[in-house]
Amino acid sequence: MVKKDRMKTDGKATLTLNGQTYELPVIVGTENEHAIDITNLRNETGYITFDPGFANTGSCSSNVTFVDGEKGILRYRGYPIEDLAAHGTFIETAYLLIFGELPTRTERQEFRHLLDEQELLHEDLRHHFEGFPSNGHPMAILSAVINALGCYHPDLLRINTEEDFLRAAAKIISKVRTIAAWSFRKAQGLPFMYPDPKLTYCRNFLHMMHSLPHRPFEPTDAQVRALTLFFLLHADHEQNCSCSTVRMVQSTEANMFASVSAGICALWGRLHGGANAGVIAMLEKIHEGNFSVQECVERVKKKEFRLMGFGHRIYKSFDPRAKILREAANDMLKSTGYNDPLLDIALELAETALNDEYFTERKLYPNVDFYSGIILRALGIPVNMFPVMFAIGRMPGWIAHWNEANTDGIVKIHRPRQIYTGRAPRKYVPLDLRK
Ligand code: CMC
Repeated sequence: MVKKDRMKTDGKATLTLNGQTYELPVIVGTENEHAIDITNLRNETGYITFDPGFANTGSCSSNVTFVDGEKGILRYRGYPIEDLAAHGTFIETAYLLIFGELPTRTERQEFRHLLDEQELLHEDLRHHFEGFPSNGHPMAILSAVINALGCYHPDLLRINTEEDFLRAAAKIISKVRTIAAWSFRKAQGLPFMYPDPKLTYCRNFLHMMHSLPHRPFEPTDAQVRALTLFFLLHADHEQNCSCSTVRMVQSTEANMFASVSAGICALWGRLHGGANAGVIAMLEKIHEGNFSVQECVERVKKKEFRLMGFGHRIYKSFDPRAKILREAANDMLKSTGYNDPLLDIALELAETALNDEYFTERKLYPNVDFYSGIILRALGIPVNMFPVMFAIGRMPGWIAHWNEANTDGIVKIHRPRQIYTGRAPRKYVPLDLRK
């Protein structure tokens, strides 16, 4: 089990309130990030901090992922994302995130074997799909079925050993593909394709999505590579909304299935996992002639709508994932001969925005979602499945964070405070006297 390093302290900050002085410890992380520790602030002063959206709040310490948004750095367990993207596979990256180290050849083999063993769903669970309407949103199906998985593994609702953890993690990472692909097949009215253990993780997923009983789907190497990169680049991103949701649910000691199911729901929103679908909708509007690239940018500047796939809470110079995906989208389209006019529009839109003061002043750059939709379209993934694809990729990160929180030894239920702005106390008004 991965061992967690502890934070170091580095001096004290002084706070003066109503003439009284308080000393607050300053803590420092591996990359020299500093934070004022306010753990005892309310007890000592009666005050809380106010930080809507938690943009200035460290909710935990973590060993999993480092992001420096000013410099455009992303590292999983110390490894730069560019190196992992150039040399690694998704499964290797999942192993790294979950266990803290890149696997040896034997460890990788064993992990692959474990995932192969776990790829089938219980046949009773297969029947759950019959209860969903065929136009049911695949994110609702994914979160419901992942949560329902827990019913089939009651022994894993409490994780007591490393062996339990490994089994639960492997089940979720492997089965999430099967559930995702079957939600698509259900919507298409196509027979469910069972997973094929002879295939690698990404090929197997594409097989369950697109093979027919009489005609196996055989993706090109470039398609498999693009999907691998898509999953790998989405595998973790420290304390974003869905990861924080997973940790928050875990803090109640909820099980891993319920916690990651909640993460899927958090990811669903347009400003998080739903953004790449928004990008495609915007590019299609331009393609269909509803407005030009320049008009689109002008309307964004008038704040009629946001430029989807642009801007990031953390990245303020560039998103390193976007750079890699832009190349991957280009390479895949070139090698498959698939000509997507939306890529050219995306490139023109990015160029126009990046040369406009509105965007540069606000440090708004293309994020990972700007190009990912182009890759997914070329893989035959419908737009409503885009956040599902994000969820498959993000699963190792959620599991790594769930485990880190579960084994942290700091059992503290997440429970933020608020500043109450409602009515002052008043007398109950009997029904007859109400106006
Ligand atoms: N288009 C136009 N203006 C924007 C955009 C955008 N995409 N993003 C931010 N702004 C403006 C915003 O209007 C505000 O302007 P002003 O100062 O004049 O009021 C300023 O930039 C700061 O915006 P903010 O909302 O305070 O920034 P944030 O850090 O809270 O928001 C964000 C981050 C990602 C939610 C936002 O940039 C956004 O809505 N982007 C579009 C949706 C998107 O692409 N989401 C995917 C995020 S990456 C995937 C992931 O990691 O989850």
